[in-house]
Amino acid sequence: VLRSLLFVPGNRPDMLEKATGFMADTIVPDMEDSVPFEQKEKAREIIALNIPSLAANGRTILPRINSLPTGLLEEDLYAVIGPSILGVTVGKIHTTQDIEEIDSIILAMESRVGLTPGHTKIIPWIETARAVTEALAICKASKRIIGVALGGEDLSVDMGFTRTTEGSELTYARSAVAFAATAAGVQAYDTPYVSFRDSEGLLREANQVKQLGFKGKFAIHPAQIEILNSVFRPSPSEIDYARRVIEVYADARALGRGATSLDGRMIDAPVVERAKATIKLAESIEKLPNSS
Ligand code: COA
Ligand code: MG
Repeated sequence: VLRSLLFVPGNRPDMLEKATGFMADTIVPDMEDSVPFEQKEKAREIIALNIPSLAANGRTILPRINSLPTGLLEEDLYAVIGPSILGVTVGKIHTTQDIEEIDSIILAMESRVGLTPGHTKIIPWIETARAVTEALAICKASKRIIGVALGGEDLSVDMGFTRTTEGSELTYARSAVAFAATAAGVQAYDTPYVSFRDSEGLLREANQVKQLGFKGKFAIHPAQIEILNSVFRPSPSEIDYARRVIEVYADARALGRGATSLDGRMIDAPVVERAKATIKLAESIEKLPNSS
């Protein structure tokens, strides 16, 4: 369960320290675009130093490392790889070959540091036109991939469109990524909402992408965390309704019926499947270290 994935610039020890107290489902110490080139090495060291305290309460850590063409990826990875991180997130993935190359770099490093092969997961960023059109193949290019992120800012550079507050320019890319992720059996996470003081806008956008099939969204500011956690968490009334769906369906089945009704709506097999998924998600959220 990754409802909220909070970016923290890797060259900011003060922010990384503060992040230990935040309720994000995962913390994403960033080595990529929030860190200027001359500070890349410093960011690596600062992040490596902060991983133990960030991971102390059992929360997952997902550093973002620099992309392959930068030549920084291997050293970035070496600085953070270990049992405390869930994996890495990597920006500017263009093709399946990028993933295959990263997968083999990780595999070699896992054996070098004595980590179980496959421990380190990957969340690639789909943020070019080519990657959007090849999203399914990218999602399936490595068993390490547990989810994919849609990057709106880089995509706007590639496509030459302007980013707007209501975000209609991303509609196709969001749907394409959500469908590809689901088809590959992984999760889709949405681009951060950059107007970090606009909580109503974030709420609207998070609900909108949830309806497109996204399971979480990146955050750039602590004020965004609780909004994302609550949007991507089933509400008490949704949980209650799901329980009632399961009950009335069980009663109907006992009478030999495959369809029944609840509150004037038809209940049949897919509705029950969805209800079970709601209960399962709620139970998984309850098990999170930051579930409160
Ligand atoms: N992680 C940890 N702490 C953060 C934070 C973050 N992502 N964003 C803000 N904070 C802290 C600030 O340090 C500040 O702490 P303080 O009150 O102790 O001084 C507090 O939260 C309030 O911050 P605020 O003053 O509202 O914002 P800001 O102007 O300091 O920072 C940004 C705004 C956008 C620069 C900052 O949120 C940020 O750097 N976000 C991440 C950017 C990033 O990683 N981008 C790459 C991915 S797209
Ligand atoms: Mg990007």
